[in-house]
Order: sequence, then structure tokens, then C-alpha cells
Amino acid sequence: MAIPIKNEAGIAGMREACAVASTVLYQLREHVKPGITTYDLDQVGRDLIAGLGARSACYGYQVGSRRFPAHTCLSVNEEVVHGIGSLKRVLQDGDIIALDVVVEYRGYIGDNAITVPVGTVSPVRAKLLSVTEEALRLGIAQAKVGNRIGDISAAVQVHVEKHGYGVVRDMVGHGVGISMHEEPQIPNFGRRGKGDLIKPGMTLAIEPMVNTGSWRTRTLRDGWTIVTADGADSAHFEHTVLTTAQGPEVLTQPRVAEPVSIHALD
Ligand code: MF3
Ligand code: CO
Repeated sequence: MAIPIKNEAGIAGMREACAVASTVLYQLREHVKPGITTYDLDQVGRDLIAGLGARSACYGYQVGSRRFPAHTCLSVNEEVVHGIGSLKRVLQDGDIIALDVVVEYRGYIGDNAITVPVGTVSPVRAKLLSVTEEALRLGIAQAKVGNRIGDISAAVQVHVEKHGYGVVRDMVGHGVGISMHEEPQIPNFGRRGKGDLIKPGMTLAIEPMVNTGSWRTRTLRDGWTIVTADGADSAHFEHTVLTTAQGPEVLTQPRVAEPVSIHALD
């Protein structure tokens, strides 16, 4: 199977879906504060997605006989990805939480994630967030026509390991379009010059998952939540990127520099 190349209509559809995905993500972020449960946060996500006329691509997402039961993925501290909102999980000052929003809008899928502090976090946690976000930025910069997927992977891995962190290996970034997961796989580790050639019109979800300890992970008994094997913290940032002759275009880039708080009008 070849990597899908989006035509004009496909690119227009991806732009819209990704704009919805980033709007939801940045509005959801406004609700992260000590005292909220991750269940309530997921309900906010559900309502934001519905309010924009979109559908969660996570809700009901099927792997084998299991269906993902939440509308967003909310992963706290040692949880890496695919955390399920719970009434029992009350966010505490000093936590970090990864918000992963995947929406389907008019037949196209936008995928993005950020990890944010809850209240005030330790310098150690703040550094994990900034290193992971920077790894994403460096990976995106390699998503250039004529490069190979391994150039993205290597850029992420080199940056992460330079800081002594572990880059998760058993989950990878991916093409995204009319399905949540399309070709190619985009590992966050690998070698420059290896892998598929990057051509114009690819839409790629680049998503480093970075652990302060070992790269190893395990799955909780809920069948979904991925946690670090050693219990150390983890962070996750993700953008959907369009490859163009002029360079990578981040389709999930929020439109405003400072997201407008929905409370700003009070
Ligand atoms: N961004 C995640 C991914 O690309 C979203 C998964 S949704 C879930 O795999 F349903 F699998 F949780
Ligand atoms: Co993804």
C-alpha cells in the first residue's frame, strides 16, 4: 500500500478538520485546572466537538473487540497516551496532563495533542514538556519534500536522547486523512535517510511520546491506557502536518497566538 497523496479537495477537507481539532484542543485546555476530574474534562471535549458539528474519532474506535469508551484521550503524569477520563481521577496542582483530540469533520480527520501543566508544576516536569514540544518542532521541520520519514524520526530521537529522556518505541506517528491511521508509520526513533520518500500532499500526524525514564511502556488492565513501565513521567505533543513544495504546513496550528478564553467575555 502506498502513502495516500491528497488532491485539492482532500487538502481542503484536511484543513477544515484540522482547524476543528485544534480549536477543540485549545478550548479544552482552558478547562484544565486543579479539582476537575478527567471524566468532566472528557465531557467538555465531547461538547466542544459536537458544538463544532464534528465527531470524535476516538469514541468507539475499535481495536480487536474493544471500543475506546471516551471522546478524548487524557493521560496524566506516568500515563503516556490513550488515558480514559475517570470520575476517580481528580487533577492535582503539579500534575501534567496530555490532551489528545482526534475529530472527524465532513469525512476528514484532524489529530493533535498537547501536554499541559495543572496549576504550577516542578521545573523537572516543565522541562519534560518543553523538550517534548521542541522534539515535535524539530521533527516537523524535517517533513520536507525530498526528505525521508527517517529524517523526522532521527530528529526527534536525537533531541530527546540528548536530554537523557526515553522516546517511546511501541507507538508511532502516522499518516492521517480519511482514516485516523494511514500509511506511513512515523516512529520517533530511527535513522536519517531511511524510510519512505516524502512527497507533496502527504498529511502526517507527527507525535513524539517522551518519558523522563526508560522508553518502555505497558498497558493498564483497562486495555487502553499506556503507562511508563517504570512509573516515570511522560509527555506527548502532536500535530497534523501537510507536506508541500514550500515546506511543511502545520494544519493543526491554532489560529490565534493566545487562545481566547471562553471566560474572557464575562
Ligand atoms: N492520537 C491517537 C492516535 O493516533 C489517538 C488514538 S484514539 C483512541 O493513536 F481511540 F485510540 F484512543
Ligand atoms: Co495520532
